[in-house]
Amino acid sequence: MSEFFKSSIGRKVAMALSAFFLMFFLIIHLAVNITSLFSADVFNQLSHFMGTNPLVQFALQPVLIFGVVFHFVMGFVLELKNKKAVGVKYAKNDGGANSTWMSRNMIYSGLAILAFIVLHFIDFWFPELNTKYVLGDMSGMHDGEFRYFHELVEKFHNPIRVGAYVLAFVFLALHLLHGFTSAFQSMGITAGRKKFLKNFGVAYSILIPLGFVIIALFHHFNH
Ligand code: HEM
Repeated sequence: MSEFFKSSIGRKVAMALSAFFLMFFLIIHLAVNITSLFSADVFNQLSHFMGTNPLVQFALQPVLIFGVVFHFVMGFVLELKNKKAVGVKYAKNDGGANSTWMSRNMIYSGLAILAFIVLHFIDFWFPELNTKYVLGDMSGMHDGEFRYFHELVEKFHNPIRVGAYVLAFVFLALHLLHGFTSAFQSMGITAGRKKFLKNFGVAYSILIPLGFVIIALFHHFNH
């Protein structure tokens, strides 16, 4: 088994599995956050449940963080291996003709998302961990009401942060536009469904980041 994951195809499969997991997480994350557009109450309730449920906190969240780190580390490993392989020159290596801009620049769109994740953790996740596990305040309350919606709105006051987030979501779309179909190809499950997967991939890659863009802009302009 470990030999399989050391092989080139094994690494691609591992990369694809972590990508599927992260793409599923993005749907859940968007579904929770999008409620903030319609109801502060629903958003508060969902955030409190996700932030205090032991199964989510101590089983799903560690798996998620492992998935994020694994995907980035494996992405760098694949990039380095590919660079080495390119050293062995082909008779004709005209990247522009044989592949898309997105596929040749996965490492750069990935790095932009990594930079976003660092900023995003500083904005939301680390303060959450601090409140709950360092200060020991699991109530989710501030001044007699749930604090989650208020904290979210607060973050999107700053136009520079909103701009950085929106730019990151554009990179996320570019990353997904290649990554979605590539993950299915690595798993060898495209046969007979190529067209459907391509269209579905394009819809997913645009709609999910667009949902996040709408959330950031909505709170910036409405509060
Ligand atoms: C407008 C867009 C977004 C908003 C408002 C938002 C909001 C949040 C909040 C409030 C948390 C803290 C959750 C908690 O621990 O209680 C969080 C965590 C997190 N976010 Fe986001 N997020 C956005 C976009 C994204 C995107 C695009 C990604 C991935 C590319 C992402 C990845 C994560 C991860 C990995 C965590 C830490 C794990 C977790 O607590 O679920 N977020 N986000």
